[in-house]
Amino acid sequence: MILLYLILIGAAMAQNEPRPPVGSSPAQPLPFSHRAHVSIGLKCVECHQTAATANAAGMPSVDFCMRCHVAVRKDSPAIATLAQHQKDRKAVEWVRLYRLPDFVYFSHRRHHTKAQIACAACHGEVAAQSVLLKEKSIAMPACQACHDARKANNNCDACHDPHPG
Ligand code: HEC
Ligand code: HEC
Ligand code: HEC
Ligand code: HEC
Ligand code: HEC
Repeated sequence: MILLYLILIGAAMAQNEPRPPVGSSPAQPLPFSHRAHVSIGLKCVECHQTAATANAAGMPSVDFCMRCHVAVRKDSPAIATLAQHQKDRKAVEWVRLYRLPDFVYFSHRRHHTKAQIACAACHGEVAAQSVLLKEKSIAMPACQACHDARKANNNCDACHDPHPG
């Protein structure tokens, strides 16, 4: 128990990835709008293709975006940049809002598909946002509060021990 705690503190200190606080909206490399894209009928899992089936939700590739943007708004500067990324075979370096340290285990499949928890419960009203806002906390107390309420496993090793989803 004490040992687990020390290992985790060590891991937390070694971890220096930017994790934006709740309420922030970091600048992104392209002016992508969830509201505009969801309103034309795209579903969350068409772009985040593994959110129902795997641990990670996944991010859409530039090729996926360019299926439409080879024609749609192709004269806009943002779309010209996107097209250049495709030409250079370069992914867009989106600034991440929701990212856990490596010592925490999390599965989208387990939560979204098995426990039937909507994306909005953990990510807020993404569909309505033209600039993505980090509405919800994914820090330990937020996980534990819902696990308490839903009577899910709140033992330390549930979230801090790697295991298959
Ligand atoms: C199914 C077609 C489709 C796909 C796939 C798609 N878009 Fe779009 N996108 C649109 C349409 C339509 C608009 C115009 C929406 C509006 O302004 O109401 C748009 C607008 C945009 C704009 C604003 C362009 C401007 O300057 O006016 C950006 C930036 C953009 N999309 C980026 C992306 C990115 C990045 C992806 C991939 C993650 C993507 N799009 C995937 C259809 C698509
Ligand atoms: C057209 C493709 C597309 C659709 C549809 C889409 N997204 Fe996204 N999503 C993106 C792109 C591109 C980004 C990165 C840019 C940004 O943060 O705005 C992103 C970022 C995110 C992030 C932040 C991830 C992180 O760690 O930074 C979340 C959460 C998210 N989307 C949830 C959703 C939800 C929920 C839906 C459905 C309501 C949805 N997305 C629909 C393309 C899409
Ligand atoms: C129970 C809470 C919860 C639910 C429900 C949930 N997410 Fe997440 N999401 C998270 C957490 C926690 C992370 C950070 C995961 C990590 O870094 O390992 C995350 C990360 C993401 C990311 C960043 C990219 C990635 O691959 O991790 C996207 C995109 C995303 N979620 C989209 C979605 C979509 C779309 C849905 C619904 C289909 C959804 N999420 C449902 C908690 C949730
Ligand atoms: C909105 C409620 C909610 C939130 C928020 C939430 N969870 Fe869960 N979680 C659940 C439920 C319900 C289950 C049980 C799913 C099942 O039936 O397997 C679960 C199961 C799990 C499991 C599997 C536990 C086991 O039985 O071994 C892990 C690991 C887990 N969650 C990690 C996390 C982490 C990490 C976070 C925060 C980043 C988080 N959860 C946030 C509701 C939630
Ligand atoms: C439901 C999931 C969950 C459970 C259960 C859980 N943790 Fe965590 N823990 C997390 C998440 C998520 C983080 C990362 C928080 C962050 O840095 O944003 C974390 C981070 C930590 C850290 C790093 C320091 C910090 O606060 O960021 C320690 C130490 C820790 N947990 C110890 C424990 C101990 C001890 C237990 C059992 C009493 C426990 N955790 C139970 C999800 C969980």
